[in-house]
Amino acid sequence: MKRRHSRSSDGSSGISSGSVSVASSVCDGNQNDTSVSMTSETQLPKEETLRLRNEHLGSLTALYFRENPLKIIRAERQYMYDEEGNQYLDCINNVAHVGHCHPAVSEAAYQQMTQLYTNSRYLHDNLSTYVKRITQLFPDPLTVCFLCNSGSEANDLALRLARAHTGGSEVITLFGAYHGHIQSTIDISPYKWKNDMADKPKYVHVAPNPDMYRGPHANSASPGRDYALEVKKIIDTIKLDGKQLSAFIMESLQSCAGQVLPPPGYMTEAFRYVREAGGVCIADEVQVGFGRVGSHYWGFETQDVIPDIVTIGKPMGNGHPIAGVITTKAIADSLGNIVSSYFNTYGGNPVSCAIGHAVLDVIEDEQLKKNAQEVGEYAVKELQKLELKHKIIGDVRGMGLFVGIEIVKNRSTREPGTAVANEIHRRMKNRRIIISVDGAFDNVLKMKPPMCFSRSNVDHVVWSLDEVMSEIATSDVIKPLKPSTGTSHLEEVNVSHLSAATN
Ligand SMILES: Cc1ncc(COP(=O)(O)O)c(C=O)c1O
Repeated sequence: MKRRHSRSSDGSSGISSGSVSVASSVCDGNQNDTSVSMTSETQLPKEETLRLRNEHLGSLTALYFRENPLKIIRAERQYMYDEEGNQYLDCINNVAHVGHCHPAVSEAAYQQMTQLYTNSRYLHDNLSTYVKRITQLFPDPLTVCFLCNSGSEANDLALRLARAHTGGSEVITLFGAYHGHIQSTIDISPYKWKNDMADKPKYVHVAPNPDMYRGPHANSASPGRDYALEVKKIIDTIKLDGKQLSAFIMESLQSCAGQVLPPPGYMTEAFRYVREAGGVCIADEVQVGFGRVGSHYWGFETQDVIPDIVTIGKPMGNGHPIAGVITTKAIADSLGNIVSSYFNTYGGNPVSCAIGHAVLDVIEDEQLKKNAQEVGEYAVKELQKLELKHKIIGDVRGMGLFVGIEIVKNRSTREPGTAVANEIHRRMKNRRIIISVDGAFDNVLKMKPPMCFSRSNVDHVVWSLDEVMSEIATSDVIKPLKPSTGTSHLEEVNVSHLSAATN
């Protein structure tokens, strides 16, 4: 059953005059409704929406495409629609994991919302069955789940659990990492530090991220071992200072750092050093969990390790704020030594748990993990073909529907092509394809689309990238320094469209 709820600002039901059709070939029969309704006549003019936002939201709040921001008013599956009914292909929303506004998820929310919405201090089957179901997706001994509302909260709780369990204070994080927007997680997020290491709290230590393209051990014969040794070096200095390690936190695959896939063996070795030093290992799966990597349900499984604590969020509620911390009973019990109880007003409420169940059902029913694997492999293969043609592509990497394209000025020096990457981003938006740019040098084109992304979507993206890159090659965005030699040494000019980085 597909229920459509549409309400205008005056509370009346908004049935559109502006129906548009979308291609039904995508998502391969999963969600076949092809009509999209919108209430353009009840919308504020776009300029007014922007004016109110500028006046009252503050300029720090991130906005895609500052130059001509999009006003998106509806979305379905991997498509979004602006106020004029234009369709955009969404290649980056990993929160809308099972597809934007999936009817099964909306229906679960609606049904439970009309029955009961209360906190987790009462018994409720939704809560008990959900935590059973989610922990069953993890290997032993990860059997306990705390529920909360955001990835930031989950990581904050993970840090508290680690401190309570180890008695330690020191935390090791990775270069380029982002773990959330609250103070404790900003502390461990070099990605957000404006003044680089000057913003680093003393208890935080930054290890090089296991980058196989441009990191210090990218060309090593054993990069996994060498990058893990960097973690050990930090542990040695912590010991020398007479301090105790609390936690090593990392995303199983780094997203904000620029779609970085750790080399084989990295997590095994790093986790061993951390545990030998009495610390715990936290895997942040807020972006990459729930089957995105295709071959496995969780990113850490691709490295054949079992973390002590795992944090999950974004895709968990397909847009509804629900997140969680999964850990061992021993670590969970340690928190009891320092606080009287865990209580979270919204975490674990029956509506969130109903939604969480629905998301898991859809992942299973529509075989989205398998789709991520097949379509993701296809995407990497097709993008690698593009790499043969366009010298500005330094690297194509990915696992499942988690793909990065590194844009460079020069393939030999690997100098980041920041301005060109941002220009590609802008021109793709003009073609109504939304990708993002990220990484330490803001030069990695990222794709992490809803999991119903199809092969024909990949073709559309690759074909458009090909055109955009060809256009750029002949425009004044890239000016060859030595045109007569035909080298790939490129200088970027004419850059006025840099957009906000994304999480
Ligand atoms: C890896 C990672 N961890 C944690 C967070 C924080 O999640 P939230 O924005 O839900 O607080 C993010 C958000 O982008 C993230 O990418």
